[in-house]
Amino acid sequence: METISVRLRFLTYSRIKGIVLPSHLCRDWGFKNRQRVAISHGQITVHGIIIEEKKQKTGNQVKVTSPLKEALAIPHPGMIHLKHEDGTIRVGPSIGIVTTGIRDGGRAPIGPRSSFFQKLLSAQKGKGVYYFIFSPNDVDWSSNRVYGWFLRSTNKGQYVWKRFWTAMPDVLYDRVPSRAAERQESVKDFKFRVANEQYVPMFNIGFFDKWGVHQRLFPMPEINEFIPETQVAPTLSMLKSMLERYSMVYLKPKDGSLGYGILKIKQIPKGYQLSYHSGAGNVTRRFQKLTKLYQHVFQTRRASNYLIQQGIDLCTYSGRPLDFRVHLHKNVENSWVVSCLAAKVAGVGSVTTHVRTGGMVIPGKELLETLFPDQHHTLEKRVREASIRLANAIEFAYGTNLGELGLDIGIDKKGNIWMFEANSKPGRSIFKHSRLKQADEMSRSLLVDYGRYLANF
Ligand SMILES: Nc1ncnc2c1ncn2[C@@H]1O[C@H](COP(=O)(O)OP(=O)(O)O)[C@@H](O)[C@H]1O
Ligand SMILES: [Mg+2]
Repeated sequence: METISVRLRFLTYSRIKGIVLPSHLCRDWGFKNRQRVAISHGQITVHGIIIEEKKQKTGNQVKVTSPLKEALAIPHPGMIHLKHEDGTIRVGPSIGIVTTGIRDGGRAPIGPRSSFFQKLLSAQKGKGVYYFIFSPNDVDWSSNRVYGWFLRSTNKGQYVWKRFWTAMPDVLYDRVPSRAAERQESVKDFKFRVANEQYVPMFNIGFFDKWGVHQRLFPMPEINEFIPETQVAPTLSMLKSMLERYSMVYLKPKDGSLGYGILKIKQIPKGYQLSYHSGAGNVTRRFQKLTKLYQHVFQTRRASNYLIQQGIDLCTYSGRPLDFRVHLHKNVENSWVVSCLAAKVAGVGSVTTHVRTGGMVIPGKELLETLFPDQHHTLEKRVREASIRLANAIEFAYGTNLGELGLDIGIDKKGNIWMFEANSKPGRSIFKHSRLKQADEMSRSLLVDYGRYLANF
C-alpha cells in the first residue's frame, strides 16, 4: 500500500491516544472520524483514535497526542512517513544502527567514532526517517524500547546529539566495530534475541572471514573466474605445488585485515624471496631452500590460521602494483550499485596496497584513464560488472541481508579481473580523497535507502 510523506507534530493537551489526519487522507484510506485503529512505530503497536481534521483539505500535517506519542515511543517531530498496511497505520521507517562503545557524553557520545557516526546519520537529511545509534545495553526488552542517540539540527544549522526513547526499530544495521566487540555477552545476547525472538531484520551482520568467502564463492560458475586458487592451513607441499604453478603466492591470515600478517613468496633464479611489512618497514629475505623459508615463516605463525593463495601479477603504476576498492550498496529497489571505485597504488616495496604501508588512493576512473587511454571505458565497465556479479553471488551464498560491501579487486597484466577480499564492514578511508566526496555522500545516502527498503516503507 501507498506510503506518504508527512510533517508530524505533537499535541500536548489531549488525554486520548489519538492521531489527527487531514480529511483527504481519511478519505483515501477509508477512515472515519473517531474510528479506532492499530498504529505502529517500529516493533510497537497500540490502538488509537483517528481524529479527522476537516479544515486540512490538502496539507500533509499529522498530529499525534502526547499519550499516543508516549505509547509508541515516537522520538521527535518532523518529516516522516505514514503507511496504511493491513488496517494498521505505520509511522516510520525507523532504522537503528547497533554498535558498542557508546558513552554518556552529549558532544561525542561514541568517543573518537562520533564524527564517523555523525556523518553516517547526517545522510538522513530530507529523507523522512528515524535514524539513530544505540548499543545493546540501551534496550529495554520488557517495553520493546531503545534509548537511542539521534542527530538533530539546530536553528543555526548545526548538528547536536540528542538522546530519546524510541521503539525497537523496523530495521537494524550492524556496526559492531570489531570481532572482539562481537564476543561481548551483551552483543551476543542482543543478536540472539533480535534473530530468534523479535525477528527484526538486520543487515551486514558480523564480519566475513576470507576462507568462508572462498569456500562459498569458488564453486559458483558465474564468478569462479574472479576467484584466485586458495587453500587453508598451508603445508610445505602445498606451498611447493602452488609455486610450481604460479611462481608467486600470498600467505594471509584467515581473519586478517589492513594487510596485517600478509606475506608474499616469489620464485627467483636461485631460490625464493619472502616479502612482508613489519612494524619497522618492508622486509625482503632470500632463501635457497623452500623448506627453510617455510620453517622461518611458520616458526612464529600458526599455519592453521593462514590461507595460501595464487599470486596475481597485478598491473602497475610507476612500477608499483595497484588494485581497486569497489564500494557497493543496495539501493531502495534492492539492486546492487557501485558507489565508489577507488584505485589503491602500493607503497614502494609493499606487498599490499594499504595506505598504512605507504599506499596511495586515486579515483579509479582517473587512474584507468592515465594507464589505459584507449581501453579505460571497457576496463571500468568490466570492473563494475564483475563487482556487481560478485556482490549478487555473495548475497546469494550467505543468504543474509547485505546493504553494503567493499571488494578488493585486482586487474592482472593480461587484463583478467580478480577478487582478493570481500568486506562486510568496509572502511571508509578511500572517501578521504578530495575527489571522492560525492561518492562518500552517495554511499551514506544509499545506506538509508536500503534501510527504508528493508523496513518495507
Ligand atoms: N593473491 C594475491 N595476489 C596479489 N596481490 C594480493 C593477493 N592477495 C592480496 N593481495 C594484495 O594485498 C592486499 C590485501 O589483501 P586482502 O586479501 O585484501 O587482505 P586484508 O584483509 O589485509 O586487506 C590486496 O588489496 C592486494 O593488493
Ligand atoms: Mg583488503
